[in-house]
Amino acid sequence: MTNSLIEKNFAYALNYITSMAREPLRCMRHMGLESPSAVAMQGAPSGKGRRLFYLTGGENVRPIYNNPHTYFTSNVPLRAPGGGAQSRLRRGLIGAQGEEHKHYRAAFTAHAGRAMMTEFASDVATHASRWLEAIPVGTPVDLVTQISDLVRYYSVAMMFKDDDPEAAINIGRKITAWIELGYNAKNVLFPVNIPGSPYAQYRKISEELELDLIKWADARRGLSAKRDILSMFVNGPDESGQPLSDDRLAGHIATIYAAAFTSSVSALIWAVFLLAQHPTIAHDLCDEITGAGIDPATDGMRLLELPLLDRVLKESMRLFTPVPYQVRRVTADTRANDISYAHRDIIVIGAWATNRLRSVYRDADSFQPERWLTNDANNYDYLVFSAGPRRCVGYALAQIMVKITLATILMRRHPTLIAGQRIDTKVAVTLRTKQPIMALFNDATRHFERQPVEGSAANLYRVTETA
Ligand code: HEM
Repeated sequence: MTNSLIEKNFAYALNYITSMAREPLRCMRHMGLESPSAVAMQGAPSGKGRRLFYLTGGENVRPIYNNPHTYFTSNVPLRAPGGGAQSRLRRGLIGAQGEEHKHYRAAFTAHAGRAMMTEFASDVATHASRWLEAIPVGTPVDLVTQISDLVRYYSVAMMFKDDDPEAAINIGRKITAWIELGYNAKNVLFPVNIPGSPYAQYRKISEELELDLIKWADARRGLSAKRDILSMFVNGPDESGQPLSDDRLAGHIATIYAAAFTSSVSALIWAVFLLAQHPTIAHDLCDEITGAGIDPATDGMRLLELPLLDRVLKESMRLFTPVPYQVRRVTADTRANDISYAHRDIIVIGAWATNRLRSVYRDADSFQPERWLTNDANNYDYLVFSAGPRRCVGYALAQIMVKITLATILMRRHPTLIAGQRIDTKVAVTLRTKQPIMALFNDATRHFERQPVEGSAANLYRVTETA
């Protein structure tokens, strides 16, 4: 369904930018969740110059996703003025265009073939099991820290196959700190390099990170390009058959790690959170997982086919969309779905808002995995992994990490949230929380109990089940 373009002035645009930098979900809710929207905001008081668009709904976003040459991806909103390491680090696969993008997307896809997936699935199952054993039964733990530690291990030690997991994990931590600063609202709104400011801090950490990544990459020189993802970048040819330069190398590594880690952590945290708050669904899922009799360590790939596990994950990522919005730069004057775009316009795709449209999803705020038995929302109305030629290239690896971890947890422990805690959401590329999420990992006695929680996370779902 196409709706007409709503025109807004420059004051509206300023308010929108500030609000998106601070509280994107609140801003998108305010822009409307009833039906698809297309809003054009003036980018200058005169009304001239580039415009800013906000789009939701499959029909509005379909042409944008399908024409990556006209609508360039833009991975970090902060433009990182002043050049330097912070600009170079942004130039990984997500921001790459043309031949460079085609080459590395193909190289990544070839690397992540069936054999790599099967080995990765087995490693995930083994590590998830060890991780779970180390969590004390019935003692409050922070779900965010626990899951971040786990996925950091998957994303660097395993994907990059490091012989020194601790060193790899430290690099992972630095990349995460770099992203957090890059998305800090103060940095996005005031990127001014004054000593002691968050922006100065961002520049400094970018320089340190770039050097660390280059040093890390040096340790792989001369190894087979097929060994792991890091070796693929270090020892494989670039798009013109030459070795990849150090600065581009660092950008690619930071981007792949960031894409793999941040989104998968977000998907897992919110899936566990929603299951803990929906005892009946959690119970049914336990039945499915234990009933299947699959040993994750030897046959983890079969877990990926469990239908309820699939619906639960699909539904939790619809409600708590790990990457809530994406940005595109328009590279030529063009027209799509009856909207005219000019060269240099910016488009924000409201993925989280699209996933909540009441015109597409009945009872859109409630967690109902069973809706996926009948819902016919197409790819473009379900914006979790984006769509079209730039759709997430790590989709299959993400399914392995998240589904095998969820299954491993539910086979042996039943997470319950600590009652009365406050949980507010924040967005730093991905949907996270401002506070820890305290939870108990109880023995698997089939006793799940929903607990009252406060904060903005509690307003993001509506409980309909009666248990
Ligand atoms: C649940 C987990 C994940 C979610 C929800 C997710 C989501 C996304 C989304 C929405 C995009 C599009 C961004 C844009 O258009 O601006 C994307 C792109 C990408 N993702 Fe993922 N992702 C996940 C896991 C992963 C993993 C595990 C990897 C790597 C191993 C990965 C690597 C990438 C890369 C390289 C791109 C850029 C693709 C391109 O531009 O061609 N992602 N992802």
